[in-house]
Amino acid sequence: MIRVAAVGDLHVGPDSAGALREQLSGIHEKADVLLIAGDLTKAGEPEEAEALARELMGFPVQVVAVLGNHDHHADRPAEIAALLREAGVAVLEGDAVRIDTPGGSLGVAGVKGFGGGFSGASAAEFGEPEMKAFIRHTKERSEALESALASLETDVRIALLHYAPVRETLLGEPPEIFPFLGSYLLAEAVDRSGADLVVHGHAHRGTEHGVTPGGVNVRNVAQTVIRQAYAVYGFDAGGRKKPATAGRGSRRGHGPQEGRISREAARSAPVSER
Ligand SMILES: [Fe+2]
Ligand SMILES: [Fe+2]
Repeated sequence: MIRVAAVGDLHVGPDSAGALREQLSGIHEKADVLLIAGDLTKAGEPEEAEALARELMGFPVQVVAVLGNHDHHADRPAEIAALLREAGVAVLEGDAVRIDTPGGSLGVAGVKGFGGGFSGASAAEFGEPEMKAFIRHTKERSEALESALASLETDVRIALLHYAPVRETLLGEPPEIFPFLGSYLLAEAVDRSGADLVVHGHAHRGTEHGVTPGGVNVRNVAQTVIRQAYAVYGFDAGGRKKPATAGRGSRRGHGPQEGRISREAARSAPVSER
């Protein structure tokens, strides 16, 4: 079993010092890797990334992250990524990383992604240069995701995004803002390359479970959605490339489910989905 912990939208600031390390303590007993689906910082300031880097320094499992829109806000995403890499985090943007776990090999392809909307309500690369640039960025990031996923030859492949690839995991957000929360182009990229799971954040008021048109499971792991320190997804790498179980990490105050596969999560686990 490959055990993947995932969370998004930590929005760490200098004032969050210590809290995260406490939330994530003991993670190595429950997961082989931690994925962070963007919005690591509040406003993309290097001192915020430094605070997070201090929390993740010497972390017991490999941490893999993509940046989110908040991490771009101060126009210093390269500095944010560099600070995290110094702490051992694999920060992805259009590339992939392989992690060998006792349960098999795991590949993670990561991009931030971008917006544009979904079937029946999506923007097109048409009109003003600003509009064309908006959709062109989404297309470029989607193509980068497709290539990064295709480059992986691992037992299990995960797409790590910040923006959503499907509208299902946005349900709970105002429909008017869906075009700013994700794009169907990301799902098309995943379906073309194939993956075992897509993990994203960004939609703080969205829904955890979704699936791409091609049948790949999607999980919105924004911390306000999963309402735990992290979600854990298990994969049986023995020829069945699909999430087999889902569990929970715990935040303080949520002790009873700590370290277990909860019945509720198991019931909602995508065993039969494909
Ligand atoms: Fe966020
Ligand atoms: Fe975001």
